[in-house]
Amino acid sequence: MSSVGAQLPPLSLYIHIPWCVRKCPYCDFNSHAQRGDLPEAAYIAAMLEDLDQDLDYIQGRELASIFIGGGTPSLFSANAYAQLFEGLRQRLRFSRDIEITLEANPGTLEQGRFAAYRELGINRLSIGVQSFDAEQLEKLGRIHSAGDALAAIASARDAGYDNFNIDLMHGLSDQTEADALNDLRIAIDSGAPHISWYQLTIEANTEFYKRPPELPQESALMTMQRAGFALLSDAGLTRYEVSAFARDGRRARHNLNYWRFGDYLALGAGAHGKVTLASGVRRYQKTRKPEDYLSRSPSRTSQSQGVIDADLPFEFMMNALRLRGGVESALYSQRTGLPLAAIAPTLERLQARGLLIDDPQRIACSERGFAFIDSILSEFLEG
Ligand SMILES: C[S@@+](CC[C@H](N)C(=O)[O-])C[C@H]1O[C@@H](n2cnc3c(N)ncnc32)[C@H](O)[C@@H]1O
Ligand code: SF4
Repeated sequence: MSSVGAQLPPLSLYIHIPWCVRKCPYCDFNSHAQRGDLPEAAYIAAMLEDLDQDLDYIQGRELASIFIGGGTPSLFSANAYAQLFEGLRQRLRFSRDIEITLEANPGTLEQGRFAAYRELGINRLSIGVQSFDAEQLEKLGRIHSAGDALAAIASARDAGYDNFNIDLMHGLSDQTEADALNDLRIAIDSGAPHISWYQLTIEANTEFYKRPPELPQESALMTMQRAGFALLSDAGLTRYEVSAFARDGRRARHNLNYWRFGDYLALGAGAHGKVTLASGVRRYQKTRKPEDYLSRSPSRTSQSQGVIDADLPFEFMMNALRLRGGVESALYSQRTGLPLAAIAPTLERLQARGLLIDDPQRIACSERGFAFIDSILSEFLEG
């Protein structure tokens, strides 16, 4: 296995809160409908105990970012997060300008909590709006109304969050281009400095998989997307990743660390981590069921394996090529410990076909290349 150069990648932390008010019919995330009171204190204690097992992964680094995702992290009280942050700070150094994001769903009681979260150091919210259209929200099984979403955005701003994201989905059943653009316009007008605009996908193990809604035709979807990209760009939100759009200085640093093949610790049920050790790159996953995670049965880490050298080129590219500007070529060796020369013939072949940009300093898809991303990635598969 390769050993990665002297400089370790930046370190982030992903924390998973696996409960929601109810399960949405399109969602295959590790999230479970809440029954009764949430075991907040026990879950925070379990995560801190779990972190104690993974301290070797830190290797003297400070944390560059934390992302608290779900599920619905805004179901947890500020008190619970105060306990969590106290425990984290005892075990980890936070960088001075750390980005700490929390996913918040409109439509529950959590809005009053935004100010208290902020006092704890949470400095970015990701608000799961999905659509501002009442009918669409109903079909998506969301618990909130458009008014709730606008109220959540207003509360975030009132609480002093100048850095927040709005999640929207498009390609919804019976959704016209005008409908999709209307959702985007409302999000833009709300002043959001970051918008994630996801195309609805039908995932296995969801209600939508069993009873698929009728979705827009491929050609309608393409036109909808082109118009959406133009609207976002005209509004000053640059598309920097497949589904991520941001104003200057507001790109999600946590997600950028994933895409630049950085390291991240995992805490909470089902969370994934990736760390660079003297022995090479290691991936690990936490046990998925909340009750197993809480009771440490049989172990909180359900999987942990080294990534073999043969898989590193594909893994690196799968992340880096999501970025519209790609990455600097030197990052490849820094992150994988493998020589760039070994993939140079593949890079040159893809450049010659016009699928990667013709710049020895950068590895990035060309505009045409973005439409053929799967075939580009297959070139980095072993064999
Ligand atoms: C971790 S998920 C959920 C966050 C939060 N609980 C919520 O529902 O707002 C993050 C985002 O992924 C998107 N998403 C979830 N399932 C999706 C699907 N099947 N297709 C496209 N986007 C999806 C939604 O926009 C969602 O807000
Ligand atoms: S989409 Fe969000 S709120 Fe809905 S079930 Fe998934 S994680 Fe929970």
